[in-house]
Amino acid sequence: MTEEQTNVEQQTKQILKRFGSGKKNLIPILQRVQGKLGYLPREAMLEIAEFLDIPAVDVYSVVTFYNQFRLNPPGKHSIRVCLGTACHMKGGYITLDAWKRRLDIDSGQATPDREFDLDTVACIGCCVMAPVTVVDDKPEGKVEPTRVDGILLAFEQERERKSKEGQWK
Ligand code: FES
Repeated sequence: MTEEQTNVEQQTKQILKRFGSGKKNLIPILQRVQGKLGYLPREAMLEIAEFLDIPAVDVYSVVTFYNQFRLNPPGKHSIRVCLGTACHMKGGYITLDAWKRRLDIDSGQATPDREFDLDTVACIGCCVMAPVTVVDDKPEGKVEPTRVDGILLAFEQERERKSKEGQWK
């Protein structure tokens, strides 16, 4: 077992101490563990299954059923493409495809360098700005494929600026 896996197990056990072993606690436990770890690793789900005395596949089914749970570690920056009705009508899926292509990952994944993660959301109430992408919790409006490149370029420039600042310190 790697150090990271051991760490996950320990942190999960620590959280489980605050809960009873009733099955009704499954979702609150998953939320708490994800809040701490940023996602739900396999080791955490196994610990939870053992604690609640339920098959691991039941935990996995719940995690994959609800959109709020993540199976992969988050990136440093989160990209959430809205696929609510208004955004869908304005090309939300085309925007999602553009993000997938540019980041070279699928929805629900993070880039190998863990710089970005990509996911979808339901309507966030900014329909007049459709198609919307939520970038690090900030809704960006009219995000069409060309704007995807612009947003990524801004991140790149910021990274370069920070690295130059670091060189001069
Ligand atoms: S449908 Fe995207 S913000 Fe409402």
